Amino acid sequence: MEPKRAQWGSKIGFILAAAGSAVGLGNIWKFPGKAYEGGGGAYILIYLAIVLLIGIPVMLSELTIGRGAQANAIDSYGKLGHPGYKWVGWFGVIVAFIITSYYCHVGGWVLRYVASYATEPTKVYADPLGYFYALLGYNAVTGETWFPLTAVIFAGIFMGITCFIIVKGVESGIERFNKIGMPALFVILIILLIRALTMPGAGEGLQYMLIPDWSKVTFSTVLSALGQAFFSLSVAGNGTVIYGSYFSDDESIPSAARNVALFDTLAALLAALVIIPAMAAGGADLSDGGPGLMFIFLVNVFNGMPGGRVIGLVFFLCVLFAGLTSLVNLYEVSVEALQDKLHLKRVAAVAVIAVIGTAVSLCIQAIVSDWMDVVSIYICPLGALLAGILFFWVAGKDFVLAAVNKGAGKPIGAWFYPLSKYVYCACALLALIAGALLGGIG
Ligand code: PFF
Repeated sequence: MEPKRAQWGSKIGFILAAAGSAVGLGNIWKFPGKAYEGGGGAYILIYLAIVLLIGIPVMLSELTIGRGAQANAIDSYGKLGHPGYKWVGWFGVIVAFIITSYYCHVGGWVLRYVASYATEPTKVYADPLGYFYALLGYNAVTGETWFPLTAVIFAGIFMGITCFIIVKGVESGIERFNKIGMPALFVILIILLIRALTMPGAGEGLQYMLIPDWSKVTFSTVLSALGQAFFSLSVAGNGTVIYGSYFSDDESIPSAARNVALFDTLAALLAALVIIPAMAAGGADLSDGGPGLMFIFLVNVFNGMPGGRVIGLVFFLCVLFAGLTSLVNLYEVSVEALQDKLHLKRVAAVAVIAVIGTAVSLCIQAIVSDWMDVVSIYICPLGALLAGILFFWVAGKDFVLAAVNKGAGKPIGAWFYPLSKYVYCACALLALIAGALLGGIG
């Protein structure tokens, strides 16, 4: 007899876990810099439109595929009608695995900063740029990168904490951790927002984030916002499919998707509204986004603030929570697939994934930030497109509407099917073609 599939203990537990997956380093590390580059308020408006028109339908479809199949991510696609569709599931598992391989590095940096803020903040403050480069193992003069042991150790600890949570299982590990981590993250972000906005000079940054500067918007900006939205909502890496598979038939998927998208977008906006005004207040050169935005410039800002040491510690703790709750989801995708496919015990599956994950992540250590862009700009739209084609074009309207509406008090609006079938699929396709033609956008 098949063992009974794990389920979320409560609806709020599911929403917090799915929000935990969505709200991650993408929101706090990437979104503010991209929003700054893309014209502040203008980027935010474009991003909001994408989340509403495309992000929510994609999330809805992935959740429904997972719930309908009640299986690992690979078989979930197979259950859409043809065993051959399983390769789309395989693709998503591989994408999740690729993301984990760099995600644990950035998480490791964040953990290093938490430890530094707690024990030796003066070392970080003395030379924030030098500190970050040393952690990365980057030589700014020669442009070479070496592999510092500290970064590897901290990435390993970050991975270890994630594995511990996953081993505990869906309800007592993942759900319980997110129930604490997610509210804590929002509380911390709100405290930081109040602090950032009351700093002298912050108004300039706030204005930039609220008043659209359309002169900075190009076609690349829109594509980058699209990739960012897919990545941020955790679609295309099977993260949402697998969490959907633990969702019960009596819960409403449309309302869950709406709530998760809301939390995710709110977290990204809060992060941007903390980081950009705080940097303006600190007189930082905002034009230099990139990986250093949070690790170098924000540290400078904290350095100049009264109580900066505590604020810095709290901020990095908050990023740590966000990263952990996402990595838990990413690992769960591969762990669950392995458990099901090879009939392994959970601990054994976690151990196998951890060992392979460590090996892969050591290989890509030098290209972490670029990898993240490649994944969000090319790979996530491809995954979203494949899922969209199978769900909306192959599985068909009756199947889709019955599956989406199961457990929902009120059926989803008539807008949903055509919007998803045409607009979402066309946008994912366009993003792929344009990304390839433009030859790399950031
Ligand atoms: N949404 C996460 C972030 O913004 O950092 C990253 C992510 C998690 C992507 C899970 C894909 C996924 F399946």
